[in-house]
Amino acid sequence: MRVGVLMGGWSPEKRVSLMSGKKVVEGLRQAGVRAVPLVLTAADKRTERLKKRVLSGRFDAVFIALHGAFGEDGQVQALLDQWKVPYTGSGALACGLAMHKGCSKLVFEAKKVPTAAWQAIARSTPRSRWAAEVRAGLPLVVKPADAGSAIGVTIVRDRSKLSGALAKAFRYSQWAVVERFVPGVEVTAGVLGRKVLPLIEIVPKNEFYDFDAKYTPGRSTHILPARIPAAKARRVRALALKAGEGLGCSDFYRVDLIVPRKGEPQVLEVNTVPGLTDTSLFPEAAKAAGLTFPKLLRRLVDMALKKRRG
Ligand SMILES: Nc1ncnc2c1ncn2[C@@H]1O[C@H](COP(=O)(O)OP(=O)(O)O)[C@@H](O)[C@H]1O
Ligand SMILES: [Mg+2]
Repeated sequence: MRVGVLMGGWSPEKRVSLMSGKKVVEGLRQAGVRAVPLVLTAADKRTERLKKRVLSGRFDAVFIALHGAFGEDGQVQALLDQWKVPYTGSGALACGLAMHKGCSKLVFEAKKVPTAAWQAIARSTPRSRWAAEVRAGLPLVVKPADAGSAIGVTIVRDRSKLSGALAKAFRYSQWAVVERFVPGVEVTAGVLGRKVLPLIEIVPKNEFYDFDAKYTPGRSTHILPARIPAAKARRVRALALKAGEGLGCSDFYRVDLIVPRKGEPQVLEVNTVPGLTDTSLFPEAAKAAGLTFPKLLRRLVDMALKKRRG
């Protein structure tokens, strides 16, 4: 079996992707798979070049270890569909919906998945009107609609900071999503197939689970299983599946939630290519479910092949 591992790319999460990709190549090899790294650079924006690189490998499947734009937003998935190359994870449309937090929110609301009150603000709005457009009260979270790894995310506790936070979000996206800050325990739910993996609680040392807290060892603590009451954990598991399946996700994804002390867990987002680095949550959850990293990767490749046949 030959598997090409797509990594790198040109999104702001390129460095994270290179770390994920390296681990995936190692892990697949440990699982007895012939894994070939395919490091994408800006030159691969030329679709013909990328097509040649992918097809000339004669791969049985491609493992997508790309995060963010192009890799996680449905673009590469749509190309691989056209080229009839099986790939890991969710399909193009599900990835696109999950990547855009405004679109995800619309689906969550339609499916009755609790999510923090929100609004979208367009980059084309004149700057002088930004603050006035924001209706919700403080504190707020301002994020680019379609980025990841908490890049461009700011918690706003003071109205005078709103414009700066929006400007930061607009560096990465045409749209900003502004939502109510939800106090509570941050929990992430990995989903493999239709099974929810053990819940992990995230305790960041920083103000929130920002880029530094995510990728610098020691800047956040993972607690497994999450310290939430059993009834809440059941609800989190149900909502994680409802959120993911509502978007049309399949095979594997990771759902981020906040569990307030009172009331319903709130879904923040669904990640269709969860991090696969040393400090990443999904592999940790899989391990707690008895699945080593090589076994997990092998399962994902098998799922990709099965979809193709199906
Ligand atoms: N509504 C919210 N209330 C509280 N914290 C939030 C909220 N939205 C985001 N955060 C914090 O910001 C982090 C990143 O936000 P998230 O929506 O998961 O986007 P990303 O795709 O960048 O991971 C979360 O892990 C959490 O720590
Ligand atoms: Mg997140």
